[in-house]
Amino acid sequence: MADKEIAGLSETHLRGTRFVHIAALFAALGGLLFGYDTGVISGALIFIKRDFGLTTAAEEIVVSGVLLGATIGAIIGGRMADRFGRRRVLLVTAAIFGIGAVASAVAPSPIILIVSRVVLGVAIGLSSTTVPVYLSEVSPPQARGWIVSLFQLAVTAGIVSAYLVDYAFASVGGWRWMLGLAVAPALVFGTGMFFLPETPRWLIRSGRHEIARRVLVRIRESADVDLEITEIQTSLAQQEQRGTWADLLHRHVRPALIIGLGLAVFQQITGINTVIYYAPKILQSAGFVSASGAILATAGVGVVNFGMTIVAMLLVDRAGRRPLLLIGIAGMIVTLAVLAFSFHVSNQSNTLAWVAVICLMGYVASFAVSLGPIFWLLIAEIYPLRIRGLAEGTAATFNWGSNLIVSLTFLTLLEKLGASSTFALYALASGCIVAVRLLSGPGNKRPDLGTDRSVLASRSSVAPNCLNNRASSPLVSPKRPIISPARVALLDR
Ligand code: BGC
Repeated sequence: MADKEIAGLSETHLRGTRFVHIAALFAALGGLLFGYDTGVISGALIFIKRDFGLTTAAEEIVVSGVLLGATIGAIIGGRMADRFGRRRVLLVTAAIFGIGAVASAVAPSPIILIVSRVVLGVAIGLSSTTVPVYLSEVSPPQARGWIVSLFQLAVTAGIVSAYLVDYAFASVGGWRWMLGLAVAPALVFGTGMFFLPETPRWLIRSGRHEIARRVLVRIRESADVDLEITEIQTSLAQQEQRGTWADLLHRHVRPALIIGLGLAVFQQITGINTVIYYAPKILQSAGFVSASGAILATAGVGVVNFGMTIVAMLLVDRAGRRPLLLIGIAGMIVTLAVLAFSFHVSNQSNTLAWVAVICLMGYVASFAVSLGPIFWLLIAEIYPLRIRGLAEGTAATFNWGSNLIVSLTFLTLLEKLGASSTFALYALASGCIVAVRLLSGPGNKRPDLGTDRSVLASRSSVAPNCLNNRASSPLVSPKRPIISPARVALLDR
């Protein structure tokens, strides 16, 4: 697309805050599709298994194909968005979402279904890395925090919409409709991205200063955008000295790296996606007789997930990350332990079915106020600018990889160990986070992080600043500490 058009598209109706809201809404559709395409399989799986006569291993592969694709998408997403621009990558992402939805809906065989799900997964991986960057780069600094959090909310909205669609088509076993309907939001997403401009930051980076200025003038509704342009240029100059793997393993960064990768793995090995992807199967094994009933109860779990994510967004800056994490993880341990115990003492029954629903809701609520949003928030804010891309990408890849392993093994674990031991295992993994956190808590092992106070000024400014406000992030230079105490302090708030 010609440079002129990139800016021109934003010049018709969209201006200022209105532009940012519309852009946030359309780009967040990328998050909605991510949630929809991962969540939809939970209800569809029961019917896919029936129609194709899948074995347990084949079922796991149908569910996990998307995660394999997402791991690949997450690895290549950052680099592609830097090279071709955020907008172009998102346009391609929308096209892959659309094609993947249609291909999986019409799949004549399990192999084609699996391949289409891997393709869809690539779109999910691209969207999980590029949408937050697009959102943060078009929003004004003061709105960056909530606009980026909107992405996680959109993911949970996608999951709950998928559950409702699953329920609507359950009575006719319409798994093809369940998978195929994702084409509608993909079309809206693609159309929206076509009319939205490239981000000013990417335009400046690729030397198109005049177009960047025109875009900024429109979206900030002010002629005076020189300060922002200078900030972008300064932060880009810092980024020129890109962080390397050696920087990532630097003594001062290592604690933050361990926290990021640790949370990435723990977020998954505590079992969240066994519930998100397999809830109807869990509920059927607890005693729900009809597939529709199990899918409806799953929709309730999705609503709780969505609602509690809003609660987390409201609380996270007030209550702090650490208390929310500890309370949430405690809730996850209790609900998983009760679930494990109930499966241990009772066989399929009405009572067990309802205990399972309550436990799954309590577990998802606890996850949604803690590990769910806080993992994504922390990896966006704790790393210094120079290594941020590399560190975030590595954490996201670890997250998708762990998700893949858990989803690929869940049904086999259920078969070999039984539901009780499987859930006890996830409870144990959750217990490990608390143990690790208590053992490495403040006052025990604090890294010596130097004296950079530049983001200590105010609590409220820390999070939004760190959420990709690259210009105001502490610098990383040989003479300055590679990570500021404020970033580590974020973990203790
Ligand atoms: C996780 C996803 C999960 C979702 C559930 C996200 O934070 O990364 O794997 O499916 O939460 O809401």
